[in-house]
Amino acid sequence: NKAVTVNTLQALHAAREKITMLTCYDASFASLMDRCGVEILLIGDSLGMVCAGYTSTLPVTVNDIAYHTASVARGTKSAMIVADLPFGAYGTPETAYANAVQVMQAGAHMIKIEGGAWLADTVKFLTDRAIPVCAHLGLTPQSVHQLGGYKVQGKTTESADLLKTDCLKMQAAGASLVVLEAIPSALGKEVTELLSIPTIGIGAGPDCSGQVLVMHDLLGVFPGRKARFVKNFMDGQTSIDAAITAYVSAVKDGSFPALEHCF
Ligand code: KIV
Ligand code: NA
Repeated sequence: NKAVTVNTLQALHAAREKITMLTCYDASFASLMDRCGVEILLIGDSLGMVCAGYTSTLPVTVNDIAYHTASVARGTKSAMIVADLPFGAYGTPETAYANAVQVMQAGAHMIKIEGGAWLADTVKFLTDRAIPVCAHLGLTPQSVHQLGGYKVQGKTTESADLLKTDCLKMQAAGASLVVLEAIPSALGKEVTELLSIPTIGIGAGPDCSGQVLVMHDLLGVFPGRKARFVKNFMDGQTSIDAAITAYVSAVKDGSFPALEHCF
């Protein structure tokens, strides 16, 4: 398989082919997911919860992300590697740049940051300096204390309009990709139609350009409360390979997410 690049993502999007993304934290799973045809491996700061056992993503450091990114990179042949900048790592464009350089040097091809308009200057600063950016909007877990919990976002007209404006600003600033988390399906569809860059949904409905899940959720090994958007793809499968292949097929053929996974 050929290496997945930003051009591949744009081509898949133009062809209306769904893009598959999964979180990944180590070389063994990276190799397996790569073999199963997952296009994007995300070193999410969710590693703080699923690997380290914290109750939020806030304690995760740039060194944690860089360590796991290097592990994933060693196991990957074709997939694109996207790494989260963790909480506190992108308060200013300069800070974001220094931390993004660290995770790019660890093996990332793109970084992801959570937020909207306030990040426009940062997205421009990074993309001007050869660092592709994925913007994460909607439910942004690093903002849990400001949001007052892990809640569905964009339910009012005002917040939906704000989300759309934020997404347009991220695109205008140079973002290559947008992750939309926990928003009504109708809004996920509207944002996807509004933008020219692909959207990757997690609890954002079936009309996003692609989907992402946390690998532990997909494999049914996370002991916490199961979010509505989660599907355990191990159900009915006898191997992890088969579960990941089933996820890729379900995203590609549009059968995941189903109504029961949406808001
Ligand atoms: O950290 C993470 O796993 C994420 C995904 C849920 C998008 O940001
Ligand atoms: Na994250």
